[in-house]
Amino acid sequence: MSTEELQTLILKTLDAKGSVSNTRELTTFDGKEVDQHALLGALMSLSLPGEEMVQYESIEEEIWVLTEEGNEIADKGSHEAKVFEAIPPGEEGIAISDLQKLLGESAKIGQGQAFKNKWITKKLNCLVRAVESIVDQVQIDLKIIQSTGKYSDPKVLAELKKRKLCEKQKKNSYSLTKGPHFSLTIEKSARDITYEMIQSGEWKNAKFKKYNFEALGILPAGGHLHPLMKVREEFRQIFFEMGFEEMPTNRFVESSFWNFDTLFQPQQHPARDAHDTFFLKDPANCTQFPTEYLERVKEVHSVGGYGSIGYGYDWKIEEAQKLILRTHTTAVSSTMLYNLAQQKEFKPVKYFSIDRVFRNETVDATHLAEFHQVEGVIADKGLTLGDLIGFMNTFFNKMGVKNLRFKPAYNPYTEPSMEIFSYHSGLGKWVEIGNSGMFRPEMLEPMGLDPEVRVIAWGLSLERPTMIKYGIDNIRELLGHKVNLSMIQNNPICRLDKRMGKEAVH
Ligand code: PHE
Repeated sequence: MSTEELQTLILKTLDAKGSVSNTRELTTFDGKEVDQHALLGALMSLSLPGEEMVQYESIEEEIWVLTEEGNEIADKGSHEAKVFEAIPPGEEGIAISDLQKLLGESAKIGQGQAFKNKWITKKLNCLVRAVESIVDQVQIDLKIIQSTGKYSDPKVLAELKKRKLCEKQKKNSYSLTKGPHFSLTIEKSARDITYEMIQSGEWKNAKFKKYNFEALGILPAGGHLHPLMKVREEFRQIFFEMGFEEMPTNRFVESSFWNFDTLFQPQQHPARDAHDTFFLKDPANCTQFPTEYLERVKEVHSVGGYGSIGYGYDWKIEEAQKLILRTHTTAVSSTMLYNLAQQKEFKPVKYFSIDRVFRNETVDATHLAEFHQVEGVIADKGLTLGDLIGFMNTFFNKMGVKNLRFKPAYNPYTEPSMEIFSYHSGLGKWVEIGNSGMFRPEMLEPMGLDPEVRVIAWGLSLERPTMIKYGIDNIRELLGHKVNLSMIQNNPICRLDKRMGKEAVH
């Protein structure tokens, strides 16, 4: 039925009856049930604010409907009744095998119930009637449910449901009364004034659709910050608060030189393998390097210097030239420290960055081929390991993370190196939250930094605290093509509980 037909049906019925207590009683002109969902559309257009021809209220009901098998039984009788009917009256009864032939599947299902009802008994291999006649109550009950959607005894309903003969369904319907502007004819009101209406003068008598000031506005389609960017913003504020400057991290493609060699990472180090690093094909190489510095890097790797014996291998420029996607933002720290060393006078600095890095990893629930690193560097004369530990405590404290532990670790570019652990009360164990250390003289001195300058540095992932903060346990739900956009639109802004440390981020 079209919306117009439904509207006519509603108006005619109301005209005749005055009201409709439940629209499920309505039938179409050819006697079929009215689709309640379509009806709602018609009702809405008949009850627009200002022109209410009809008023309606929703009725939500639970009704019982028969399953396919339930309908079959309502029409043809229960399996147990079929079994009873198939047994001829008298002492002889019917052989079980014959009953099987006669009724098929029903014989099997019906026998048990017929025994239970004490309708039949067994004599040798035969079934005989135990009563003269039966009442097929199941069929009667199902017929009632079929026509009314209800049944007075909940125990019967539960039993029929258990036998999968009927099930509960939610149904929406409506009760109707005439509205203040009830009429049998629907006057079409105009939405807009048109050129033609003005020309013909028709606008003077035209009925216009009223403004609906109650309608909800359309949400403006603005951009939404990704949770990672929200947590990043909180971290940035902590860094700024502590007097840090942000490093430029827009160079995703780096040379192996800046990513590895300047960091005193030997050329045969496994991290420089294609298994761990993405190499570029075109262009494959970088050719511009600060020549003198490059020479000093080569020397410290191959023969040593600055109090170090180096690695003692044949350092090759070809290896350093290879272009890669940076594997850590420490490549940026290295460039920044080199630039610092080129200034006439040394000034202490505090640098940070938060950006993407890339590693050729097998993707799983906690690893992607790219992630974000939070990187920090402090350079000053006379810094010690105590400064690094002290700084870490202050820094993490500001994010609400207390209780740090430090564990000796190894990085080619730091000595000593420390992994940072924090106690995760949710997981009930110590989890690694970062990596840190003091940059080696083999890295800093070839840059031209004063040997008295000490540099403490650290790195952590942005994903881990974000996933904990937003309760996401699979990284693929945070980044990539499987991300649910409404998660991004609806997630709250990030507030790390910095004072209390209650909502610690690890
Ligand atoms: N670059 C290290 C990493 O990727 C982190 C780090 C930075 C460690 C600075 C020490 C010093 O895990």
